[in-house]
Amino acid sequence: MTAADGSPAPGDPGAAMAAQGLAIPAPVLEQLEAKGLGVTHVLDAVEEKLHTQVGSHHAFVDQLARYLIAAGGKRFRPLLVALTGHLGDPHRSELVDAAVIVELVHLATLYHDDVIDEAPARRGSPSANQRWDNTVAILTGDYLFARASELSADLGVEVTRIMARTLAALCEGQIAEVQGSLGALPPDVPTLPATREHYLEVISGKTASLIETSCRYGALLSGVDEVGVDAAASYGWNVGMAFQLSDDILDIASDTEDSGKTPGTDLKEGVRTLPVLHALEADPDGELAGLLDGPVGDDEVARALTLLRSSDALARAREDARTYTRAAIVQLERFDDAPVRTALTRLAEYAVDRVG
Ligand code: IPE
Ligand code: IPE
Ligand code: MG
Ligand code: MG
Repeated sequence: MTAADGSPAPGDPGAAMAAQGLAIPAPVLEQLEAKGLGVTHVLDAVEEKLHTQVGSHHAFVDQLARYLIAAGGKRFRPLLVALTGHLGDPHRSELVDAAVIVELVHLATLYHDDVIDEAPARRGSPSANQRWDNTVAILTGDYLFARASELSADLGVEVTRIMARTLAALCEGQIAEVQGSLGALPPDVPTLPATREHYLEVISGKTASLIETSCRYGALLSGVDEVGVDAAASYGWNVGMAFQLSDDILDIASDTEDSGKTPGTDLKEGVRTLPVLHALEADPDGELAGLLDGPVGDDEVARALTLLRSSDALARAREDARTYTRAAIVQLERFDDAPVRTALTRLAEYAVDRVG
């Protein structure tokens, strides 16, 4: 919802977010607020609490921890907590804390992931490893995990146990990805074949697990019954699969201006994402296969991106992502509240249709 000049209209529910430069999907917010399903108050409270929660008396730690929060981000996981909170009582204060926890954990994984991927840019800014160095980025990620755990302790054992399991799955996914990458792995690392099954296992762990947990928290902490919590979690897992598939498409199809990241990072790291697997399957001995077979430098990445962008592989991967979106939407059938269902449907579609 924007004024003619593109700025947020006064009283616009998305105005507070837009003013902070956050790319929350506007159509989703509009639809929600129009139907009385407010999430802006939760997201505003999350923004404030993110800052207080990461505060440190150590000036440099304080600066490091705020760095990526200030850089932007979509706050997709907090939005999911807020929205699934409407499946029960959306006014419970635990929902804000849970939304802060999932964003802090997500943030921590971003600091770490950019070290793993040697990524130079994040949220439109230099990554922390680029701006400072790997040591500083890793320790900042650890610090954010600690601050998230502190908050989780206030919400009790169940919430803490769920996040501990989520983090274990996330690490398993990231490690499996490294094992399947064709980069220069140290000789002692057992490799895994980069198949479609391996890819799906990787993204289930590294991404879908936390998005699933965001929805589980929203339903659980708003008082939904056990069967409903599991349906919300399953919705979240499917949305998470679609979200990462779409991220992998964007690594090929989008530019830094839209994604805030560097295209071709997966290729450079030797990570074969689903669009690449589709392209190689369609033409196993073609130019792309040759390019990705040896060391992948800037020239190889540029040529591979050109080949992939003009292939059918992106459309095939997008269709795969839509399959997960449809599975997510099916999980909503058991909920009676039509406006909440519609909003969650829209958000599941956004996970695939987004450009950044
Ligand atoms: C990036 O997540 C990492 C993935 C799991 C794909 P987001 O796309 O949600 O990143 P931000 O929070 O908007 O920066
Ligand atoms: C990593 O996936 C997801 C995380 C657990 C952070 P990617 O490596 O594809 O994420 P981006 O593209 O760097 O955000
Ligand atoms: Mg990465
Ligand atoms: Mg990516």
